[in-house]
Amino acid sequence: MRFKVGIIGAGNVGAEAASEIQTRQIADVVLVDIIEGLPQGKALDMTQASPIYGISSRVTGSNNYQAIEGADVVVLTAGLARKPGMSREDLLITNFNIVKGVSEKIREFAPQSIVIVVTNPLDAMVYTAYRVTGFPPARVVGMAGALDTARFRAFIAMELGVSFDCVQAIVLGSHGDLMVPVVRYAAVSGIPATELIPRDRLDAIINRTRQGGGEIVALLKTGSAYYAPGVAITEMVESILWDEKRLLSACTFLNGQYGIKDVFVGVPIILGKEGVEKILELPLSPDELTALSTSAQHVRDLMKQVDTLFGG
Ligand code: APR
Repeated sequence: MRFKVGIIGAGNVGAEAASEIQTRQIADVVLVDIIEGLPQGKALDMTQASPIYGISSRVTGSNNYQAIEGADVVVLTAGLARKPGMSREDLLITNFNIVKGVSEKIREFAPQSIVIVVTNPLDAMVYTAYRVTGFPPARVVGMAGALDTARFRAFIAMELGVSFDCVQAIVLGSHGDLMVPVVRYAAVSGIPATELIPRDRLDAIINRTRQGGGEIVALLKTGSAYYAPGVAITEMVESILWDEKRLLSACTFLNGQYGIKDVFVGVPIILGKEGVEKILELPLSPDELTALSTSAQHVRDLMKQVDTLFGG
């Protein structure tokens, strides 16, 4: 059986995800974008790499949303990316309109799909897609925690000069400055990171993780990160399609967990063929819980702005 992934937005993030999904042979991919020729050209380019990779996954491109018909997973990356000096929240109004329009098409053409939202400001855009599609919360999930966690792990590994794959960690909360890298749960080959790295260095790593996207925007000057986001999307797509049930952090709807209700925010979940199959409630210290609540309150404020944009 072949799986199908629709990726809406054939820009930097969408194309990187498409290429990863193709080369790992996870699914066939259809790229959709409003710019004529862009998804077709990138799809053709990726197709021509297939003989060298020795793979059979197909990538096609279209300017017609109908191309996502039958997709098992739809990845939503359409929208503006940040430029230097911008916060993710600065993108709210423009990207709200794009995500709203695209979500209507997902509801129409891929009503059974699981949607992974990537467009920023992430948590508010997941809420937008959820409202427009009317899909159950388990089938509308946001990609942020997988990326923020990868950044946190990378910085810990760099600090110690160890291989990246030795480091395990988790980042909770909203995708922005208020995210919560839970240092107490970070470990290097099973050894708590707090035993290996002095507190002031850990604090610097936490700050760098929070600013991880901004650091790249400042360097690139013309856009935002896409290699790690593309792979983080792929990790989630793979966990869904192959029903791997990976435990990772993702933006999902909380209904009382962690004392937080009716908010989309990043927490540990189990991701499988049904989408968000379980939300895990980690024991958190009072400080960690306060940080998560503050982060959730920030999202609640953005969700109110989204409600206003919907007209109530
Ligand atoms: N339908 C389909 N595609 C659209 C639409 C739409 N309504 N509106 C915009 N797009 C496309 C653009 O034409 C562009 O090709 O979305 C693509 C966005 O690509 P980039 O500008 O390269 O942005 P990218 O770096 O991929 O980031 C996309 O993901 O990480 C987030 O903050 C980032 O919100 C941004 C999104």
